Amino acid sequence: MCGIFAYLNYNVSRERRYILEVLFNGLRRLEYRGYDSSGIALDADRAASPSDAPYAGAPPLVYRQEGKIENLVRSVYSEVDEKDVNLDAAFNVHAGIAHTRWATHGVPAPRNSHPQSSGAGDEFLVVHNGIITNYEVLKETLTRHGFTFESDTDTEVIPKLAKFVFDKSHDEEGDVTFSQVVMEVMRQLEGAYALIFKSPHYPNELIACKRGSTLILGVNELSGQQNGKAFHDVKALTTNGKPKELFFSSDLCAIVEHTKNYLALEDNEIVHIKDGSVSILKFDPHKEKPASVQRALSVLEMEVEQIKKGNYDHFMHKEIHEQPHSLTTTMRGRLKDGEVLLGGLKEHLKTIRRCRRVVFIGCGTSYNAALAARPFVEELTGIPVTMEVASDLLDRQGPIYREDTAVFVSQSGETADTLLALDYALENGALCVGITNTVGSTLSRKTHCGVHINAGCEIGVASTKAYTSQIVAMAMMALAIGSDQISTQARRNAIISGLTSLPSFVSEVLKLDAEMKELASSLIDSESLLVFGRGYNYATALEGALKVKEVALMHSEGMLAGEMKHGPLALVDENLPIIVIATRDACFSKQQSVIQQLLSRRGRLIVMCSKGDASAVCFNGSCRFIEVPGVADCLQPVINIIPLQLLAYHLTVLRGFDVDQPRNLAKSVTTQ
Ligand code: F6R
Repeated sequence: MCGIFAYLNYNVSRERRYILEVLFNGLRRLEYRGYDSSGIALDADRAASPSDAPYAGAPPLVYRQEGKIENLVRSVYSEVDEKDVNLDAAFNVHAGIAHTRWATHGVPAPRNSHPQSSGAGDEFLVVHNGIITNYEVLKETLTRHGFTFESDTDTEVIPKLAKFVFDKSHDEEGDVTFSQVVMEVMRQLEGAYALIFKSPHYPNELIACKRGSTLILGVNELSGQQNGKAFHDVKALTTNGKPKELFFSSDLCAIVEHTKNYLALEDNEIVHIKDGSVSILKFDPHKEKPASVQRALSVLEMEVEQIKKGNYDHFMHKEIHEQPHSLTTTMRGRLKDGEVLLGGLKEHLKTIRRCRRVVFIGCGTSYNAALAARPFVEELTGIPVTMEVASDLLDRQGPIYREDTAVFVSQSGETADTLLALDYALENGALCVGITNTVGSTLSRKTHCGVHINAGCEIGVASTKAYTSQIVAMAMMALAIGSDQISTQARRNAIISGLTSLPSFVSEVLKLDAEMKELASSLIDSESLLVFGRGYNYATALEGALKVKEVALMHSEGMLAGEMKHGPLALVDENLPIIVIATRDACFSKQQSVIQQLLSRRGRLIVMCSKGDASAVCFNGSCRFIEVPGVADCLQPVINIIPLQLLAYHLTVLRGFDVDQPRNLAKSVTTQ
């Protein structure tokens, strides 16, 4: 996944230094989406036009750099210094674009970084998030037309195609508008993309379009009464000669510090900003001309604090500690008088109750959250539940029926495997439900209904607060589906009351932070860590192990405790640390026996148990304990994962690795 960002000021004087900082800050906010290289393009001084340039004005200034954003920042400042670029030069209107990359095609290197260019003179520059699937064919065609390629990216065909279209239309028809060029480019592209174009042929204009990948338009200095009102060809935005600032971003995190007025673009929409006005066009491959569309601006419900680290050193640590709050917002307004109200599901509850089975589909942590939900969904609804890792469902082309309810779980709502599985389930006629943290994401738009988990922006690449909010959202979903069953009324009441008090128990378990740091320091040199769980906490074992491996870069496996004696027991010795989850539930006595078997093999045990239970779980051996508060058994996974998140966090810091941006990973994987 990559992050794209653009800033256009109109009718307000901004110095180049300021413009640079807005672009850099946009990239810093998006860095979690990809952090192997980055780049920006901005305007040269207008007067500096070389006489042989094919357009009025000088070629744009383009900088690309390998590594983290701060590498780009350093290299841009040293380059502008060397080349005497005037940072104080002021622009009344200026269009800058920026990109942070997570490599898919081509190694991290300046030539593979964006903006990708049409060639000499940078007549067209493009930043791209997504994948162009037919780039090889396009590359061949363009090569035949004399274009040479410098990068290994799929993106490079886009600016080159734009130049090809521009030159051809120009020769044949004279003037061609920026949107006509982009429209023709879109006609040729296959795959998923959010794109922003900049061109010195169209100074002071920006064009963005999307198909598949998310793209947000942010509008600043908008008079209050326009919020929420439909607009198109937004001339109104430029009334009263007020200063205007416009932003494009891959997500809301990068615009929240500038404006709360935003629009999430829909597929095939093209936004053209010219002379400070915004036109929104709908591209239809079958029609020659695009339709002008009306869209309403939404008001962002997010505070700037959410995207800052506050008193924490890392986002992951902050987000772990935010869980009492994020769980509260997940439940806000949804639990009333012993009932669960989920507006996004209301209309579909009857259909879900009649379905043949529920199929949970997701990847990574989101899959684990669904696995944690499976037992209580089965219990409260009486509907059989099957689990599918999205990529595996696709590989097998597993059976999905019209009578199924397919529940897609995804923090970002943009994970390629999950979205492809969603297309597959839609084709097969299943009712598709989305559980996501991202309003306006592809998942939330394509599913028939769903629940937003409202956990707030999650920036650390390792998912923490989204995981617990997903479980709670699915608990509410199960309660809502099962609400017509009299036999489970008492159980439902107990779970609802457990949900209400959950945030305070989460606050309590967070007090284990220092203890987890101390435990982490005893494990830093271990090569491997096993986590055994079962029942409600099988998912906790998988998720705890996933956290450790992805951030602390330590081999770790989550295992079903019932499978221990069928193989894993062979690994047990006095060195390998093993965490056994043995909090109170129906599986407690079975876990007691697992602990005894591990101890008799001299296993190095760390036992997670309910507060005050230490002597009951390990009565004749030496174990280390993590004592956690007890809550309703099906909600216990929400509590139990938190010490493991903290353990993974501290292990990472102590081992000296990057917590928020682990090696080789991106926040959301938008490629297959
Ligand atoms: C791990 C993690 C990943 C994601 C997975 C799916 O901490 O975050 O395993 O859960 O890539 O992402 P989403 O939930 O955005 O679909």
